[in-house]
Amino acid sequence: MSHIHIVYGTTGGNTDLVTDMVRIVLEENGHTVTREKAEVADLDRLKTNDCLILASPTYGHGQLEDHFIRTFWKEVHKIDLDLTNHKCAVIGLGDPKYDADYNIESAIILQGFMEERGGKMIVGNLAINRSPIPQLETKVRDWAELLGSSLT
Ligand SMILES: Cc1cc2nc3c(=O)[nH]c(=O)nc-3n(C[C@H](O)[C@H](O)[C@H](O)COP(=O)(O)O)c2cc1C
Repeated sequence: MSHIHIVYGTTGGNTDLVTDMVRIVLEENGHTVTREKAEVADLDRLKTNDCLILASPTYGHGQLEDHFIRTFWKEVHKIDLDLTNHKCAVIGLGDPKYDADYNIESAIILQGFMEERGGKMIVGNLAINRSPIPQLETKVRDWAELLGSSLT
């Protein structure tokens, strides 16, 4: 069984709900999950796991979430994070009513970063539009099951 570490940013709580559901499903499947908010994320923990998940909603016309940018994102660019062959996955949230041209752009930014650092994306990005609540038991659960099974 694997250890999955999740770093996430949230302003309104949706990404908290989604990453917590991912945690629940992975734990149901026997995995160990640690989850840290971006503003308190410990950079030393980014590689001490079997799979790293970065999760952020999209704000400000295709930007990452504010806490994520102001803390984690700034710090992570100062260290020489080498994710070569490290198993990685991305969760992005958005809503096309705010900006259809940059819908869930956060997922693209995070995937680009992880791949640039050599990370190996083991599943397609989980992309959640609008409220995640009706999608927790369907899309989010299915994605977490797929992620969990690709780790065993
Ligand atoms: C001011 C504002 C700007 C936003 N900009 C975008 C955007 O550019 N692209 C997008 O897909 N969603 C955008 N969204 C939607 C959020 O990403 C979405 O509501 C998300 O679920 C919020 O996650 P959180 O509750 O974890 O903060 C925006 C929302 C707000 C309030």
